[in-house]
Amino acid sequence: MLCVRAPGRVNLIGEHTDYNDGYVLPAAISLETRVRARSRNDTRCIIYSDTLDEQAEFDLSAIPEPSELPSGFVRYVVGVAWALQAHTGRTLTGIEATICSDLPLGAGLSSSAAVEAAFAVLWNTLDDLHLDKLTLAQLCQRAEHVYAGVQCGLMDQAASLLSEAGHALFLDTRTLFTQSVALPPQWAIVVADTGKPRALAESEYNLRRAQCEEAVAALQGVLDEGVIALRDVSPEQAMLYLSLIEEPARRRARHVIGENARVLEFLTALRHADAPRVRHLMLASHASLRDDYEVSCTELDAMVDACLHAGAIGARMTGAGFGGACIALVEKTQLEQFLRQAEQHYRQLAPYEPRFYACEAVGGASLCSREYPCAR
Ligand code: GLA
Repeated sequence: MLCVRAPGRVNLIGEHTDYNDGYVLPAAISLETRVRARSRNDTRCIIYSDTLDEQAEFDLSAIPEPSELPSGFVRYVVGVAWALQAHTGRTLTGIEATICSDLPLGAGLSSSAAVEAAFAVLWNTLDDLHLDKLTLAQLCQRAEHVYAGVQCGLMDQAASLLSEAGHALFLDTRTLFTQSVALPPQWAIVVADTGKPRALAESEYNLRRAQCEEAVAALQGVLDEGVIALRDVSPEQAMLYLSLIEEPARRRARHVIGENARVLEFLTALRHADAPRVRHLMLASHASLRDDYEVSCTELDAMVDACLHAGAIGARMTGAGFGGACIALVEKTQLEQFLRQAEQHYRQLAPYEPRFYACEAVGGASLCSREYPCAR
């Protein structure tokens, strides 16, 4: 019997930058997906989701096409098996597995990436594939593209696999350079779920990606230097040339270019536990996502207000947007009061049932051990 854990993530800053070759700074959180599995002597997989009370079956020697699958967790499991088999040229071992999770679904905390990461680590171990975690993250991303139809970047899968406890993970999505950045121990990460389910997230997400590509194509016509992605455009160049791009691609590009610069500034602010700077950058990120990228919503804006009202150091929406959760950084000494006041205030602003999680920054997906026991 093998047991694997894989965490969800929040993103501190660097939103919608990862498919523009940009920078991100997520942290893996202590809300996790766990998979217990027993290997079989054949290539059949029987996967039960305890959380959803649903069972799915498929055969690794005849992997179903995306169009043959219902929506839901099975897509992520089949997608990972498909990506691992395509990469290694091997047929994996069949399993009987149970998934359970304390990660809220649809809250923008990457519950799907956690399922992918857990099964990637599981088969990597079971079949002695010896793939490093970055390669596993890339294969999970491929699974998401092909089997979930979301043209996501690498952030979620990298965060779930590569993070270190007590640290955020800086990732340059072009060079794939990663660095663990220590979080100030006196600050707590609070995930503030608006209770508003995400709507239109997949189609709008893919549309944003296409609009960024449109902006790149337009900039390639005016900038001499090679512009491959919005990552290659500096804030100074943006001031000079963005007016040449049509809306809404112009606004989308302005967000991405500004957000990349904010990530780099945030790294310094975090290293110095510079609360006013952290606050400024988180609020600027949220405003840009709301006004230029247009992926926030009334409830996310209300939650940011509620968190600030309750004394957060900073707050912003986290993840793709269109509903889901915010991240707030809070002084640990003020945590209880913060949680009480933020909830009270949000309830006055929005009709949804909020949920607050004070999280630890945990390590990436792993086999369960004494540090991460199998059952909670
Ligand atoms: C989703 C995607 C990520 C990233 C974020 C937005 O979580 O899966 O790759 O693009 O949205 O920052």
